[in-house]
Amino acid sequence: MELMELSWSEFQELYRSRGQVRTIRHGRDVAGFYWLEDRGRELHLHAIFVLPEFRGRGVGSATMRQIEEEFSADADFIELGVRDDNAGARSLYKRQGFVVAETLPDVGFTIMRKHIGNEPSN
Ligand SMILES: CC(C)(COP(=O)(O)OP(=O)(O)OC[C@H]1O[C@@H](n2cnc3c(N)ncnc32)[C@H](O)[C@@H]1OP(=O)(O)O)[C@@H](O)C(=O)NCCC(=O)NCCS
Repeated sequence: MELMELSWSEFQELYRSRGQVRTIRHGRDVAGFYWLEDRGRELHLHAIFVLPEFRGRGVGSATMRQIEEEFSADADFIELGVRDDNAGARSLYKRQGFVVAETLPDVGFTIMRKHIGNEPSN
């Protein structure tokens, strides 16, 4: 919640009203969660969170690949926002082929996108 800068009650309201929150599993263990919103041909990844004890083992990368596979027929892009000081997450998204779509230096935030559908990107 701290990383997303949300209180629990704000998170609960968003969870009820926007998209879906899914659990990331590693074998039988809960390894984290991600929060997705289907916006028609664009899929917005609001958040991905891997529990500290599962980080650095490819869980985040595998989850991103699964999301892409699942939605490649229904969406053209995955979009997400990342804080400029979150070097770990930025490096993960870059490795997965996300590119910077917009920078918001006033709020220290970058919007990144990845083309995933069969339609040509423009
Ligand atoms: C960002 C986050 C989701 C990444 O998840 P993760 O499971 O650690 O990601 P991965 O393991 O796939 O990749 C992370 C690093 O581990 C390395 N790695 C990947 N597979 C590996 C493996 N099998 N063994 C060892 N290291 C591995 C990657 O090369 C990567 O290194 P890098 O930092 O040099 O790029 C996770 O750190 C997290 O939850 N952070 C806090 C919340 C957050 O910031 N979320 C993003 C908000 S936008």
